[in-house]
Amino acid sequence: MSSRESFFCFLPSLFLFAFLGLSLSWAIPTHLVREDTVGPLSRQLLDSAREPEFFDWVRAVRRRIHEYPELGFEEHRTSQLIRSELDSLGVEYTWPVARTGVVATIGSGGRPFFSLRADMDALPLQELVDWEHRSKIDGKMHACGHDSHVAMLLGAAKLLQARRHSLKGTVKLVFQPGEEGYAGAYHMLQDGALDKIEAIFGLHVYPSVPIGAIASRPGPILAGAGLFSATMKGKGGHAATPHKARDPILAVSMAVVALQQIVSREADPLESRVVTVGFIEGGQAANVIPETVKFGGTYRSLSSQGLSYIKGRIKEVIELQALVHQCTATVDFMEETPLPFPVMDNDEGLYKHAKRVGEILLGEPNVQLLPVTMGAEDFSFYSQRVPAAMFVVGTKNETVGSDQPLHSPYFVIDEEALPIGSALHAAVAISYLDSHAVETQ
Ligand SMILES: *[C@@H]1O[C@H](CO)[C@@H](O)[C@H](O)[C@H]1NC(C)=O
Repeated sequence: MSSRESFFCFLPSLFLFAFLGLSLSWAIPTHLVREDTVGPLSRQLLDSAREPEFFDWVRAVRRRIHEYPELGFEEHRTSQLIRSELDSLGVEYTWPVARTGVVATIGSGGRPFFSLRADMDALPLQELVDWEHRSKIDGKMHACGHDSHVAMLLGAAKLLQARRHSLKGTVKLVFQPGEEGYAGAYHMLQDGALDKIEAIFGLHVYPSVPIGAIASRPGPILAGAGLFSATMKGKGGHAATPHKARDPILAVSMAVVALQQIVSREADPLESRVVTVGFIEGGQAANVIPETVKFGGTYRSLSSQGLSYIKGRIKEVIELQALVHQCTATVDFMEETPLPFPVMDNDEGLYKHAKRVGEILLGEPNVQLLPVTMGAEDFSFYSQRVPAAMFVVGTKNETVGSDQPLHSPYFVIDEEALPIGSALHAAVAISYLDSHAVETQ
């Protein structure tokens, strides 16, 4: 991946033009930020979002969602809350999209169409944080920060709605269900409510980036990821007479070992790939050879070719190891979900655009380069359709305990990140519309 930022060579001359008061529209490639207008506007947006009345409201929204977490495609109460806040703001929306999803529309109603996205679902996890607004639902928790993503996007709706008459195009605010393994993004796209969008921007809170900072990178940023589950069928029998049985436990053991070599022996060492077996279920008694054993796991890659290669080999390795041990195996890749999730690829132009907006909003040292990780996000389905960029919003602050990892039962955010997310969403959208405005004069 190239991290060279040749774009910055442009900046001094842009500032000079702005200083001279010249019109820049003829000179700027479309992905560049209009420095002359974006600077003051972005700071205004952040100031508005940090006003006590705004902050109290956005924090209260986040806390209400936090108290009533809902799993994928069950986000009825969250969806209701979103719609009632949009009603209060006078923002129009389409609902239901993909069952519980909401797509709000702010602006001229015409091109360009820019989209902002938040995910709504929680995790099947017991919250262990002791605080006033802890989850009121046993065994469910917003441990991935989607409560704050919804609040940030509603905050952006409020900022954008206040400026709706000056928007040079249309912003679609996407509240999507089922990010945690349900491919909600795929289903939002299937529903057609996003057919017109030309680009999309998404945020995720992130506990290893400090509060006040954001981070991202161009190109592949998260892995494409699939799941597999397999059933190894042998022939059950007495443990004392293995020759009369066909032992699926041994077959699975050998298959698990053989699967390790798909990465270690078959992939270019310079390419990142993962095969992890996460569960094995089989047998109940020490003196019985069971009839079947189930096992499964995940496979990941930073390229779509890598994904399809690993998937093909997982099937081959398991089926042939079954044959070696006189068992039979079936392998399921859960393709109806649909899986695998594609690689999350940040569009270079949109990444640079959002990075520049972030630098204006928070200061250059507060926009960091995020390392690639082999985690996955269904936001990648949007990135397959249109230019997409995803940024993380730092929430780490040891004073408030917000340094616990995502998906931890102790996960906490520093709520000071909420106005940052709202302002960043709104500023990226407004400046995108400005720099892609359809020529009408
Ligand atoms: C961390 O949280 C504390 C308590 O809210 C706050 O006073 C402090 O400013 C925060 N730190 C940063 C870097 O914002």
